[in-house]
Amino acid sequence: MDSVKYLLNENQLPTAWYNIQADLPQPLPAVLHPGTQQPVTFEDMRPLFADALLEQEFSTERWIPIPDPVRDIYRQWRPTPLYRARRLEKALDTPAKIYYKYEGLSPAGSHKPNTAFPQAYYNAQQGVKRLTTETGAGQWGSSLAIAGVMFNLEILVYMVKVSYQQKPYRRALMEAYNARVVASPSTETAAGRQILAQSPDSSGSLGIAISEAVEVAAQAEDTKYTLGSVLNHVLLHQTVIGLEAIAQFDLAQDYPDIIVGCTGGGSNFAGIAFPFMQHTFSGDKTIEFIAVEPVSCPTLTQGKYAYDFGDTAQMTPLIKMHTLGHSFVPPGIHAGGLRYHGMGPLVSHLVNLDYVKPLAYDQLDCFAAGLTFAKAEGILPAPEANHAVQGAIAQALRCKAEGVSKTILFNLCGHGHFDMQAYIDYQAGKLQTSEYSPEEVAMALAGLPSVNH
Ligand SMILES: Cc1ncc(COP(=O)(O)O)c(C=O)c1O
Repeated sequence: MDSVKYLLNENQLPTAWYNIQADLPQPLPAVLHPGTQQPVTFEDMRPLFADALLEQEFSTERWIPIPDPVRDIYRQWRPTPLYRARRLEKALDTPAKIYYKYEGLSPAGSHKPNTAFPQAYYNAQQGVKRLTTETGAGQWGSSLAIAGVMFNLEILVYMVKVSYQQKPYRRALMEAYNARVVASPSTETAAGRQILAQSPDSSGSLGIAISEAVEVAAQAEDTKYTLGSVLNHVLLHQTVIGLEAIAQFDLAQDYPDIIVGCTGGGSNFAGIAFPFMQHTFSGDKTIEFIAVEPVSCPTLTQGKYAYDFGDTAQMTPLIKMHTLGHSFVPPGIHAGGLRYHGMGPLVSHLVNLDYVKPLAYDQLDCFAAGLTFAKAEGILPAPEANHAVQGAIAQALRCKAEGVSKTILFNLCGHGHFDMQAYIDYQAGKLQTSEYSPEEVAMALAGLPSVNH
């Protein structure tokens, strides 16, 4: 009974994604049209997204079948292993049991291909020729680049400038799959030019890169926009993670008391948490869900739950979410995927209803946790994933202090093999405690749109 990994066969790959919208204790607040402040419709969104993805965005069906061509590709790396972190438990000398679901085995090295492939598939089915997107750390951009080349779509990626500079190998990876990668803010779009006019040295942000990618997609008939997080359909696709984990916990004859994930826009957290949360809605189980974010971009812990734009140039609809303000540019930490001013509305809604507890950690503590994990388990996590590792270790140490044995599950959402500069800087003592500026957040929050809802 001392297994370290719990594996499923290819034929145990889930056949449907779990849509939490079917089971929410209260419905999700509507996304609003910024002009009319009325709920956006399918038609409003059609210029930007493939029809099948929009249907999923609005759907309240509990189970949404995974198309066979997508399952065929998922088979390349899924089901992913569930590990029991026995060596980490020993290193921490904790009575807690720690499990992690490892998403770093995908072609891009993270959870992002779970949604890149279905998004590319549905767009290709509809005859779309080109997809635009933004990327922070480059994990999402490289996932979409791989999916694009496999479904014969052109891919144009606006990569946040600080990451473009920090992570040249991610850019090279995207280019290896024929994607075109542009540092954002760029001079190629009106949104980019406007930002550069105000801040010529802008390090960029996900909010700015989204504006550029949306602008290009809105102007070209054969082009659609894709997002690697935040939206309901993206979180939906990630539920394969948690669905597999449920079957793997059956194999382990165990069940989590605590589930931890890092949150940038909320997709990997939702992926591991939502299928289990279904059990808590029905009252069958009690689980503590913990969403971990960086103190430098503390959307859930310091942001306001309000309607805001998803992007800096105010091109998206208004989303009810935790936000630091769409004009806020977070400090250039290495966990680029966590530098987003907003949050997936489903995750925000569940935080607001007290189903999810958010916690913020400093990047130095997260890198230290990542190295403790790497030394015990052998896998070097992505800087974003280090936040989940830190969250899990903190819970394991809490168990130790309280002398209780709880079962902790966390999502190891990606490996850090393309993030070695971050580790070089950390080991050389060059990384700082990275605080956000409360004054800048206050200014950004003052610019929230006024909404009568
Ligand atoms: C490895 C990794 N983890 C986490 C994230 C954050 O996104 P999300 O909160 O949608 O999982 C990213 C985003 O780029 C990422 O690359």
